[in-house]
Amino acid sequence: MKIAVFSTHPYDREFLAAANAAFGHELVFFEPRLTHKTSILAAGFPAVCIFVNDQVDAHVLAELAHQGTRVIALRCAGFNNVDLAAAQQLGVTVVRVPAYSPYAVAEHTVGLILTLNRQFHRAYARVREGNFALDGLLGFDLRGRPVGIVGTGKIGTVVARILDGFGCRLLAHDQVHNPECEALGVQYVTLTELLADADIVTLHCPLTPDTHHIIDAQALSRMKSGVMLINTSRGALIDTRAVLHGLKSGRIGYLGLDVYEEEADLFFQDLSNRVIQDDVFARLLTFPNVLITGHQAFFTRDALQHIAETTLANITEVAQGKRCPNAITADQTVR
Ligand code: NAI
Repeated sequence: MKIAVFSTHPYDREFLAAANAAFGHELVFFEPRLTHKTSILAAGFPAVCIFVNDQVDAHVLAELAHQGTRVIALRCAGFNNVDLAAAQQLGVTVVRVPAYSPYAVAEHTVGLILTLNRQFHRAYARVREGNFALDGLLGFDLRGRPVGIVGTGKIGTVVARILDGFGCRLLAHDQVHNPECEALGVQYVTLTELLADADIVTLHCPLTPDTHHIIDAQALSRMKSGVMLINTSRGALIDTRAVLHGLKSGRIGYLGLDVYEEEADLFFQDLSNRVIQDDVFARLLTFPNVLITGHQAFFTRDALQHIAETTLANITEVAQGKRCPNAITADQTVR
């Protein structure tokens, strides 16, 4: 199939081209994000391949369908950026990569926890400057610490397993109780109980209307003073303005983010020579206890290889008229 690949970076090209040796699709790479302004680039392409910040709303879908697109292949798990109801109405199949490496995201999550706690980023800079003072680098033992995991699906469960290795006391909130977590001794509690008890809260639920701003001013008021908050899931799980107040008041003692509500205008590009226009994001960067990575939790060789292979296999199945198990429909709530 002829595939228009949007939001292409050199690594996408490398891994998709390598995986395509086994599939033989015709890949055309476009650097811009897919929006209503760029959808014209996909004219004549039956397949369009997109990533997390491409905007596939009803308007874009109508344009794509009109131009001959039959399948949208997400090279990611989350699909909050696609209007599935509109796709269904237009007869456009949407496929995704439901799990590529929960380990990649879980390991990055634990990396953020360790870095914020032991301040590796500041220690690195200090030692290179010849400053070996320890003031300001005081951490805490993870052993015995109550950690609250919101969402114990694939990623949350791997986080639980890793943190169990550190000897943390694990709490979780999820409407579905995962037997693997229960076997580890994870204690399922209400969100209110989790927020009240945990020293570290880490978010691994999808972004849905129910979870939008699940961490807002009210949720923050229920959390322990000095709590560590980690979000490697989706930016809009957190009300960033409320979190800014929480940082200023000291309610939040550490903040680790791999995702941000308004990341579409920032992440995945080199803006180092530009002035950041997003004042909320710029303010976040001024706190010494905030660590932000630019949506890189998924970014391992293993995950990219799996993403590329699954994406191309999904498109092949649709092209051959087979039922693709990774197709998503409007009634699915996982994002
Ligand atoms: P999953 O579908 O395996 O697990 C999600 C879990 O969240 C499920 O157990 C579900 O029952 C639970 N959940 C749903 N609503 C909830 C609520 N209101 N409160 C508590 N739990 C709730 O998904 P997986 O693979 O673990 O991924 C989780 C999220 O991680 C994805 O939705 C995606 O947004 C994000 N992600 C981020 C990446 C990154 O690079 N930063 C890469 C891949 C995924």
